Amino acid sequence: MDQKTFYITTPIYYPSDKLHIGHAYCTVATDVIARYHRLLGEKVMFLTGTDEHGQKIEEKAKAAGVTPQEFVDKIVCGERGILDLWKLMNISNNRFIRTTDDYHVAAVQRIFRKMYDKGDIYKGAYKGKYCTPCESFWTESQLVDGKCPDCGREVHDAEEEAYFFRLSKYAKPVQELLEGGEFLEPASRVNEMVNNFIKPGLEDLCVSRTSFSWGVPVDFDPGHVVYVWVDALFNYCTALGFLNDRYDDFDKFWPADVHIVGKEIVRFHSIIWPAMLMSMELPLPKKVYGHGWLVIDGARMAKSRGNVIDPYLLADQFGVDALRFFLLRSFPFGSDGNFTNELLISTINTDLANDLGNLVSRTTAMVEKYFGGTLPAGREDDALDEELLGLIRGTAARYAAHMDKFQLHLALEEVFRLIQRANKYIDETMPWALAKDESRRDRLASVLYHLLEALRVALTLLTPFMPDSCDKAFSQIGADESAKSWENAGRFGVLPATVSVHKGETLFPRIDAAKALEALEALQQKPESAVKVEPVLPEVVFDDFAKCDLRVCKVLSCEAVKKSEKLLQFSLDDGSGTPRQILSGIAKYYKPEALVGKTVAAIVNLPPRKMMGLVSNGMLLSAVHEENGEEKLQLLMLDDAIPAGSRLG
Ligand code: ME8
Repeated sequence: MDQKTFYITTPIYYPSDKLHIGHAYCTVATDVIARYHRLLGEKVMFLTGTDEHGQKIEEKAKAAGVTPQEFVDKIVCGERGILDLWKLMNISNNRFIRTTDDYHVAAVQRIFRKMYDKGDIYKGAYKGKYCTPCESFWTESQLVDGKCPDCGREVHDAEEEAYFFRLSKYAKPVQELLEGGEFLEPASRVNEMVNNFIKPGLEDLCVSRTSFSWGVPVDFDPGHVVYVWVDALFNYCTALGFLNDRYDDFDKFWPADVHIVGKEIVRFHSIIWPAMLMSMELPLPKKVYGHGWLVIDGARMAKSRGNVIDPYLLADQFGVDALRFFLLRSFPFGSDGNFTNELLISTINTDLANDLGNLVSRTTAMVEKYFGGTLPAGREDDALDEELLGLIRGTAARYAAHMDKFQLHLALEEVFRLIQRANKYIDETMPWALAKDESRRDRLASVLYHLLEALRVALTLLTPFMPDSCDKAFSQIGADESAKSWENAGRFGVLPATVSVHKGETLFPRIDAAKALEALEALQQKPESAVKVEPVLPEVVFDDFAKCDLRVCKVLSCEAVKKSEKLLQFSLDDGSGTPRQILSGIAKYYKPEALVGKTVAAIVNLPPRKMMGLVSNGMLLSAVHEENGEEKLQLLMLDDAIPAGSRLG
């Protein structure tokens, strides 16, 4: 019999210089599903990649002073780039497409021409609104409060000669497809698409631009580049070899079994994408699944909001597997999930350190302690085993039912029901009491064998989520390759009767929550504040700069100037032996007594200046910037070891 195939994709990512845990969420979930299908014995094609064209990239590259290709190369392939992130997160994609790959570019040109030749793409003039960050065209009626309905940012007027795709022609079949109930999940997203986008009337879609050049050129009309979403969506076909010679898997894997996408891009995948495939007369993907967002205090984690959480930091602190697990255990996949450090730590402690980790370590420790690491063949069963046995045999099927519906958190719930039951079974059967009675050796062996079997099943089902940790745990419980198979996940009696365990490292050490939280908070980026920095002033020649006499001074005394809200009066040791008086307008920022004894910097050869009847002989140096519209100031503080009078330069 031919091996069943399974083709699964993530969205292709915009090259972002601030990859965050929200990005990882989608790809980790897709990886788990791909690994599950490999476990089922299917031939899996798991595709991910990068979406590298568009005005946004062109603008960012220009600002960075590099070519768009150099810009994307660095973010995709550079250190801590997208490829590095997928390596870190142990992503098992079979293929990686970049929309700048030659074969993709050429295939998109052929696709565009085909739709044009068919009459589904025609030339017209575009007038409307464009959101550059989202690379999305909008009609006036689609805007929310005049802003982009996806991201809430400003849109701008756009008018240019352009090609259009006859989206309106496909409104009816697309609506039927959506209402058919199978294509788009979760079902709640269907109404949103039909009511918000199709029923108000689908307008033809502008599919070329002339105001920038970083895109796939329309080969029959120089000056036009293909709209990024047309370019991007067809990656799912070109990466298999559609209309190109680079690969030859299109017949084998198309149509996709599922496109996993974030909810904000469901519109593109469930309306525009099937319409274009209909135009190309290609079979439609079997499913689009729109997952929710990782949010922080209700707001989507995104660089523009400055609320991003660094996956490298979390992986470093807690391990990649714990992080993968947390993302899928804690939040229903179709809904938004509120990320907190507390939830991360408590999930790891409760599920991994306590429930799973303890079960592995207690079970292997008992086999070592009571039987020197190898179980004897004798067995004595008991009615107490029944419930656990039922779970060992039944969990895999219930898990599969949830996995097949992309309910990953419910699948994990089933596994933890088994793990928790096994822990309870230890308390009920009390192996330590059995161990004291020589006549109960068979019973003791039986209890431990049940526990090892429960673990084997649990680990098999957890493998897609935590591949490395499960591998280690499998070797601790003495499971060989065949014991890890899906076929055996619903059976009891798979491990050899005289199985040997190998107690190893603690898989998931318990985290000291208070300490870890403190460390995380110190390391995690605070929301980016709007810091405004003054532009650089025109050049001065060195000789002019050298005329400024900058000195290290110690604050001998400091007090507020009477009747002045601003001024502090300093007496400073500048190394000359005579105290120097300087007045500084920093009363708003410092309490005078707090500055006594500090080592500061001053320019000491300014002409004397009179303020509030007092003379100031110089000026203290401070750092000034504007943050959220407010001026912030800090005196330049120097190392106390530097002697007063030292010259700065
Ligand atoms: O949309 N929580 O790329 P992208 C969960 N290039 N998922 C998140 C997230 C968050 N906080 N932030 C981002 C694009 N994502 C297009 C796709 S496909 C033909 C073209 C998810 O880099 C987001 O929902 O903006 C999406 O699924 C993926 O990261 C890539 O987003």
